[in-house]
Amino acid sequence: MTDSKISFEPPRGMRDFYPEDMLWRNKVFDAFRAAGEAAGFEPYDACVVESYELLARKAGEEVGEQIYHFLDKSDRHLALRAEMTPTLARMVAQRQKELAMPVKWTTVAQCFRYERTTKGRKREHYQWNVDIIGSESVLAEAEVIGVAVDALRRMGLTPADFKVHVSSRRLLSEILSVSGIPENLHAQVFLALDKRGKMPDGEIAGMLRAGGLDEAGVRRAFEIMTIEDVAGARAMLGGAASRGADELEELFRLAGAAGFADALVFDISVIRGLSYYTGIVFECFDAAGEFRAVFGGGRYDNLLTAIGGEPATAVGLGFGDVVVTELLKARLGAGAVTAKKCVAVGYMAAEQRDAAVRLAAALRAKGGAVDLALKPVKPRKFFSRAGAAAYAAVLIGPDDVAAGTARMKNLATGEEREICLA
Ligand code: HAM
Repeated sequence: MTDSKISFEPPRGMRDFYPEDMLWRNKVFDAFRAAGEAAGFEPYDACVVESYELLARKAGEEVGEQIYHFLDKSDRHLALRAEMTPTLARMVAQRQKELAMPVKWTTVAQCFRYERTTKGRKREHYQWNVDIIGSESVLAEAEVIGVAVDALRRMGLTPADFKVHVSSRRLLSEILSVSGIPENLHAQVFLALDKRGKMPDGEIAGMLRAGGLDEAGVRRAFEIMTIEDVAGARAMLGGAASRGADELEELFRLAGAAGFADALVFDISVIRGLSYYTGIVFECFDAAGEFRAVFGGGRYDNLLTAIGGEPATAVGLGFGDVVVTELLKARLGAGAVTAKKCVAVGYMAAEQRDAAVRLAAALRAKGGAVDLALKPVKPRKFFSRAGAAAYAAVLIGPDDVAAGTARMKNLATGEEREICLA
């Protein structure tokens, strides 16, 4: 024990949620849950602590370096999950024979990453995940992106406020291959190119050389990043058949049929920092480009086998609560969330307390929300305090108990109506 004062701040990057913060969090979580349910995703949950081995990653991936890990008292090497995807893969692998594929699962998971804390990045965040396992169809990508767009709409945003930037690792691989860059180098190229905008091009070129590319390969990698649309990608492929390009075009068509084509843009620079993605990848940003990514995801067809499961195709996304809350506050303003109002019930003296308790119980039994005063209160104080959180108020005095009735005051209009205290 020391005498030094404990700080009232949470540890750096960790988060407290005061009641006013919970209003925003609930708005965001409500939209996550409603959108997931509307699209037929089943909720699941899992432990926050995982074996380090499951979460540990190859060098070069930022997330791998950011894992909070520790030895427990029995020397087990454990970690706090940094994302949900390895856990989801583990859970699916455990029941792979019993599950009727495709599986459509959703969760809001608390995740921990030892990140440099900046705008939009904390060391703790809640991440909504929606994943479809066991479907090769591009419709799975369309469904996953569509459900996230639906959640943003439910929060009060429109495609004028955000865009989902879409690309394809398969397409990039195809172009790298026709450019003479062998497939075993592609993963390194993806991780290096993903750093564009975050580090100088010179350093990225260095990473590419270290990854085994010659000068022509490095030039080609940067050239690929200038592609503006799928047609441009096809041109770079010199007319060769391209599953990557076909899939992207199909996704745009399906988004049109589903009614969210206006939310999608092709963007070759979206690569994603996680190495398990294999096909279409996407990331959502606010339209003004002020904030970090709102959500990100893609197809990851090899993760189940990478952790020792049977092969299974998969696609999904992670949608954090931090950036979208910043975006909502900026676009909708503080008035967009208000606490749910209730009925305030008070009493002037201890003799009326039981009557107030009975009234509160009766109103609550009918489904009402009641804030019951915890001690006798004078009328002026009662009504001024009630005004902030209640839409109506009842103050029970000695005459009311004698009469068996009291007056419920509508705090917006000042109107009163008689209610029975029996
Ligand atoms: P991710 O891009 O690392 O993907 O994270 C997804 C989203 O989580 C980000 O777009 C952001 O909204 C939020 N996020 C991540 N880190 C932080 C942080 N430190 N602070 C605040 N928000 C953060 C994944 O995690 C993949 N596992 C997603 C996925 C699911 N892919 C397939 N299924």
